Amino acid sequence: MGCLAGLGWFILLVAVVNIEAQNKPPIKINSKCLGNLLRVDVSRLGGSFLEVSVVINNSSIILTPSVSSQCGFTIKKDHQGNAVIYASIQNCFARNVDDKAFTTKLGLRLQSDNVVEDEFYLMEDTCYYSPWAFREIICRPNYMEVSVRSEVTCPSGTKKDDWNSLKPAHRSTTSDWQVMFQTDDEQLPPINISDARKQGYAFLLTEGRLVFRAPYGQPESFSTEVNGVPVETVHATIFSRQSWVVLMVDLVAACSMDEGLYNESGYMLWETPEMLYPNLDGQQINVGLQGQLVAQPVAEERGYIVGKQNNTIQICIPENAEGRYRKSAVEDDLYEFYVYHLYLEQILVDEDRVETRIRSLRTLATPLLPSPIFAENQTVLEENMFTVYLGDVPEDVQLAAVHLNGQEFTVPLSVSSFIITKVVHPNNTHGYKLKVPFEDPVVLQQFSKTDALHYILNINYTLTVLPEKDLYYHMESVVALVTDVSPPQFDAVCTESGISFKLDHRPFDYLWEITIDSDLLTSELADQHGYTMINDSNSLLLEVPLFSRGYEYKNVSLKGFFGTFEIIMRDLETSEVQGSTIKTCPFSTTELIMCSTDGRMTVVADLALAIPNGGNPARTNLRDKYCGPKETDGSRALFSFSLNSCGATVKLNSENVTYENEIFYSKKLLRPSQVVSDNAKERVTMQCTYPLSGLHRLFSVHRFESDAAGIGSLLHTTHPAAGLQSPTIQPTSALTTTLATTTLSATRRATGSYKPALHPPSRYVKVTRFRYPTNTRFRYPANASYRYIWPTLNKGVRQSLQTKLNAAHI
Ligand SMILES: *[C@@H]1O[C@H](CO)[C@@H](O)[C@H](O)[C@H]1NC(C)=O
Ligand SMILES: *[C@@H]1O[C@H](CO)[C@@H](O)[C@H](O)[C@H]1NC(C)=O
Ligand SMILES: *[C@@H]1O[C@H](CO)[C@@H](O)[C@H](O)[C@H]1NC(C)=O
Ligand SMILES: *[C@@H]1O[C@H](CO)[C@@H](O)[C@H](O)[C@H]1NC(C)=O
Ligand SMILES: *[C@@H]1O[C@H](CO)[C@@H](O)[C@H](O)[C@H]1NC(C)=O
Ligand SMILES: *[C@@H]1O[C@H](CO)[C@@H](O)[C@H](O)[C@H]1NC(C)=O
Ligand SMILES: *[C@@H]1O[C@H](CO)[C@@H](O)[C@H](O)[C@H]1NC(C)=O
Ligand SMILES: *[C@@H]1O[C@H](CO)[C@@H](O)[C@H](O)[C@H]1NC(C)=O
Ligand SMILES: *[C@@H]1O[C@H](CO)[C@@H](O)[C@H](O)[C@H]1NC(C)=O
Ligand SMILES: *[C@@H]1O[C@H](CO)[C@@H](O)[C@H](O)[C@H]1NC(C)=O
Ligand SMILES: *[C@@H]1O[C@H](CO)[C@@H](O)[C@H](O)[C@H]1NC(C)=O
Ligand SMILES: *[C@@H]1O[C@H](CO)[C@@H](O)[C@H](O)[C@H]1NC(C)=O
Repeated sequence: MGCLAGLGWFILLVAVVNIEAQNKPPIKINSKCLGNLLRVDVSRLGGSFLEVSVVINNSSIILTPSVSSQCGFTIKKDHQGNAVIYASIQNCFARNVDDKAFTTKLGLRLQSDNVVEDEFYLMEDTCYYSPWAFREIICRPNYMEVSVRSEVTCPSGTKKDDWNSLKPAHRSTTSDWQVMFQTDDEQLPPINISDARKQGYAFLLTEGRLVFRAPYGQPESFSTEVNGVPVETVHATIFSRQSWVVLMVDLVAACSMDEGLYNESGYMLWETPEMLYPNLDGQQINVGLQGQLVAQPVAEERGYIVGKQNNTIQICIPENAEGRYRKSAVEDDLYEFYVYHLYLEQILVDEDRVETRIRSLRTLATPLLPSPIFAENQTVLEENMFTVYLGDVPEDVQLAAVHLNGQEFTVPLSVSSFIITKVVHPNNTHGYKLKVPFEDPVVLQQFSKTDALHYILNINYTLTVLPEKDLYYHMESVVALVTDVSPPQFDAVCTESGISFKLDHRPFDYLWEITIDSDLLTSELADQHGYTMINDSNSLLLEVPLFSRGYEYKNVSLKGFFGTFEIIMRDLETSEVQGSTIKTCPFSTTELIMCSTDGRMTVVADLALAIPNGGNPARTNLRDKYCGPKETDGSRALFSFSLNSCGATVKLNSENVTYENEIFYSKKLLRPSQVVSDNAKERVTMQCTYPLSGLHRLFSVHRFESDAAGIGSLLHTTHPAAGLQSPTIQPTSALTTTLATTTLSATRRATGSYKPALHPPSRYVKVTRFRYPTNTRFRYPANASYRYIWPTLNKGVRQSLQTKLNAAHI
């Protein structure tokens, strides 16, 4: 049919770019022939812009949308940086060998912002397609194409009506090919081929076929509904008058414009009328996604439902069909939608067994479907940390940041005490496990009256949908309730030399401070008071030796006494006492001296060497002979009396006041006949020393009340001659209630001289709550909490103080 030669392709007005280089591609290009279509997959584009051109005669022609739809190309870019190019093998630029081999050469230009030079790739593929059906129709998303065999066959059953359409052809005076479009009810005047091309149509004559291509929505095409399915049809008749013969070819393409319907069972439904083309029958159907066709029975095995109803073919694509494409979207909430690139092939024959193949490639999308993300509280209280799992996160959604109680942390986290781990599931979802220790400063704490502690973590997850980077927030609040958050309790054990306290740390123990009386327990305080403190991550061990600061003594007898030590737990903020551990232990010593804060001296003295041989300790007394022992045994006596009674002497120096008394053996009751062998070897004196600085209440309430217990010393001095009268010089042993780092039972034999207390001398008077009498000769600071250095006591001051001490009510 050489008469059709005028249909050769004339180049379109397009930009022509020289090809620069053919680089080795880091992107992945894959091509595949699918029947009369060439499919090219370009993946790993990243954020690059892809420009596709067709290469012909060493020049490239850019495939703009209009060039694509006119020339048989469809370019789809998905959201994951991949592009799919479908080319009709009979596209305008294909190199055609015998209507069997079709070679298409594409140029791919990648432009990215961060690369100066564009990358350019060339690819070429040849598709072999044979045999062609008499008529092959392609319904692509952007064009309709019909390819017919160009041999003239005598159409059977030509009706009379058809001759009417020939009238314009007969009237035509030119031998040039003309095209006549026919809409539903109207026949348009003929135009020449070059005008038709200008209007976006394509005509191509190959060795044995005639190809006509039309974009959708052309003024010459028409939309109808066939059995309730929208259909677009383009009907062109091309003709040429060759002297007295008119050659005509009828080209019809009709495509279902159904956009698909998604139903709640997860099926995507697409319909096309059975009778798109009249007089065709014997449907054979092949169906698939992404250009992959399988026969109807195979498709049905894979869950597709292919049915005919009301003269309509219905294709139901199952929810999890292979090749569907999923995408997340943010629209206030998080949604997802599915995209199906449906490929349907229908093979029909007419009564003359002339075959027509219709191939529809349709892109169908579901509406936005909710894609809920959930957060689960997986906290285990024993772990002392929050564990929150954020699940069902789609694969194209990523965690970008978390706001924890309003504080932002971007993911991946820089060093911090909490962790986020990603958990990937085989069902294409993933999750994030967030672990935040209760003690982390970011966690809010609420302490309730009922001994319960609430840890509160408000999480605002920031998720990004890729690649658009749309943001989506998911809120979750978790609360962990820790009941029984009572103040810490020490375990206490009595030892021979003191009391041993042990505390096993609990995670929330930091809510309290531990004090001894009102002093915060620190290692410095422990050193200062002679305690032994060992604190590690598991427990706190505190050994408190007897007679060290903080003890209280009770029920002192010759058999022993009770020592009580108290550790106080206070509220960290208010210092309010919230609990305490009190331990009372029985102790026994040979000797002891205690100088109480309220001004009592209690002494247990070993008098074995201080009384005559065979003497009875019960017959001893203090300087005041009416002050006798409270209790005695074979060698020891217990005295307990007010400091300034029983004939005590009071000595004052610049820092301390010292009360002293002495134990005498009374010979008064001996019968004259009895010979007293006065072979006593010792004098026993005892002293209580109080720092003046601790006696400020003397001035305010006129009562002896010391801040701290006094320092006692029990002195055994040698007694060279008989009797307990003459003063002696050298103490044989001394017992002092200084910091008892040695056990008391041993001091009796110690040859220690008078040991001044280790208690650090206080050079200050606490003026808090202290009101000085107005008649004193000093000038006292008028304001409180001022630390005043006690002046050197001159004689007058001393006397005044002496008076006060004497008058003090003990
Ligand atoms: C390509 O070159 C061939 C011969 O060199 C020519 O026939 C053809 O028209 C050219 N095609 C285009 C699109 O320029
Ligand atoms: C294309 O270019 C090559 C080399 O530059 C040349 O050999 C070849 O003939 C050219 N082809 C056409 C169709 O111009
Ligand atoms: C096609 O028709 C237009 C007028 O409709 C005319 O200008 C043009 O020259 C014709 N082209 C050819 C190739 O005959
Ligand atoms: C969805 O479509 C399928 C296939 O036609 C059908 O079996 C199913 O019942 C439909 N579900 C709903 C909820 O309409
Ligand atoms: C068939 O089509 C008719 C009219 O178009 C409609 O009334 C009927 O409901 C359809 N039947 C089915 C099963 O879709
Ligand atoms: C995905 O798998 C995980 C783990 O098996 C499961 O917890 C989750 O519910 C699944 N999500 C969906 C949407 O099926
Ligand atoms: C979560 O954080 C984002 C970003 O700071 C903010 O816009 C949003 O209001 C927060 N959501 C809630 C519920 O606080
Ligand atoms: C979370 O888990 C913890 C520990 O199992 C539990 O105490 C708490 O009540 C849970 N609920 C919330 C809302 O935090
Ligand atoms: C003991 O150590 C823990 C940490 O191991 C610390 O939190 C606590 O404050 C320490 N206690 C004292 C009394 O020093
Ligand atoms: C101390 O003595 C008093 C009376 O003397 C007695 O009631 C009390 O129980 C004793 N305390 C201890 C701890 O034995
Ligand atoms: C006051 O008593 C303390 C403790 O016993 C002692 O260290 C200090 O030296 C005494 N001061 C004077 C001036 O004697
Ligand atoms: C107390 O008075 C002294 C001397 O006037 C002054 O330096 C100090 O700031 C005052 N302290 C207070 C707490 O007012």
